[in-house]
Amino acid sequence: MPRVLSGMRPTGPLHLGNYMGALESWVRLQDAYTCFFAIVDWHSLTTDYADPASIRENILEVGCDWLAAGLDPARSTLFIQSQVKEHAELHLLLSMVTPVPWLERVPTYKEQQQQLSEKDLSTYGFLGYPLLQTADIIIYKADAVPVGEDQAAHVELTREVVRRFNHLYGPVFPEPRTLHTEAKRIPGTDGRKMSKSYGNAVYLKDDPETVRRKLRPMVTDPARKRRNDPGDPEVCPVFDLHRAFSPPPTREWAAAGCRSAGIGCLDCKGRLIDHLLEKLAAIHARRPEFASHPDTVWDVLLEGSKKARAVAQATMDEVRGAMKIRYSRP
Ligand code: TRP
Ligand code: SF4
Repeated sequence: MPRVLSGMRPTGPLHLGNYMGALESWVRLQDAYTCFFAIVDWHSLTTDYADPASIRENILEVGCDWLAAGLDPARSTLFIQSQVKEHAELHLLLSMVTPVPWLERVPTYKEQQQQLSEKDLSTYGFLGYPLLQTADIIIYKADAVPVGEDQAAHVELTREVVRRFNHLYGPVFPEPRTLHTEAKRIPGTDGRKMSKSYGNAVYLKDDPETVRRKLRPMVTDPARKRRNDPGDPEVCPVFDLHRAFSPPPTREWAAAGCRSAGIGCLDCKGRLIDHLLEKLAAIHARRPEFASHPDTVWDVLLEGSKKARAVAQATMDEVRGAMKIRYSRP
């Protein structure tokens, strides 16, 4: 089977946006690809180097969510980036052949510096992070990388670096292609994009009662002030969630009832919540078991790291050979 690699930063428990944007499709990819999924703790340090205190617990949260969602350690390699030091060696070697302007013109570089202006991101590590991502991908000779739109430029850089490397040292790496994961809008409870930092997120670890409590007061079409005011589903963030989680008949019921003021927003949200909870039922059933056995989760991730390391070591042996820095006795 062709290989896939993708990674997530350990920023904390995963929310519905993370699930619909990535994790759910990763679970399906396991049927058609040999998958490597990394918790990229070094990537967290590129922006959060000043407060690393939560990385450890966040790795565990992500690990619980991954396993509960159905990433399967019997089929896929689930690992922690920093436990495979070979990524750092490859990143260093790639840095020898990568012109700095290639990194400076990655769009996320300036964007993120502006967005996260409270942090000093004039660091070497932050500039180089797409190259570290390149190393993550190609050390497993991945054929495909499932990422959202925001990461497409990084996979493009990966392809450029691969071409340069192969040109200089011979064909070692395949050029990976991007597998675009479907990007439905997942707004948070305040109508803005769901994000941990906005405090508007519904997490996979939230139990059904918490999900209801968070979604009942969710922002709706502001024109629908009273029950008798008709609304417009096109401008309502609750309807975006219907699009992501409800089957077509419910979506039609909600849209028609909204426009005619035939239903109230609480009815509308109630049906959405029912469908959402149905979708999350398996995760809700499995997650507490993982959360209460952190040792099991760490074992999975550390065993996975061992498996990943074996693959990465074989690639690095080839890389050192190609770059004429393999010094084993003849
Ligand atoms: N840069 C990605 C992000 O911020 C995470 C990441 C690191 C990644 N290495 C990767 C994604 C390799 C795909 C492949 O979301
Ligand atoms: Fe939004 Fe549904 Fe209320 Fe319409 S009825 S405004 S779609 S929550």
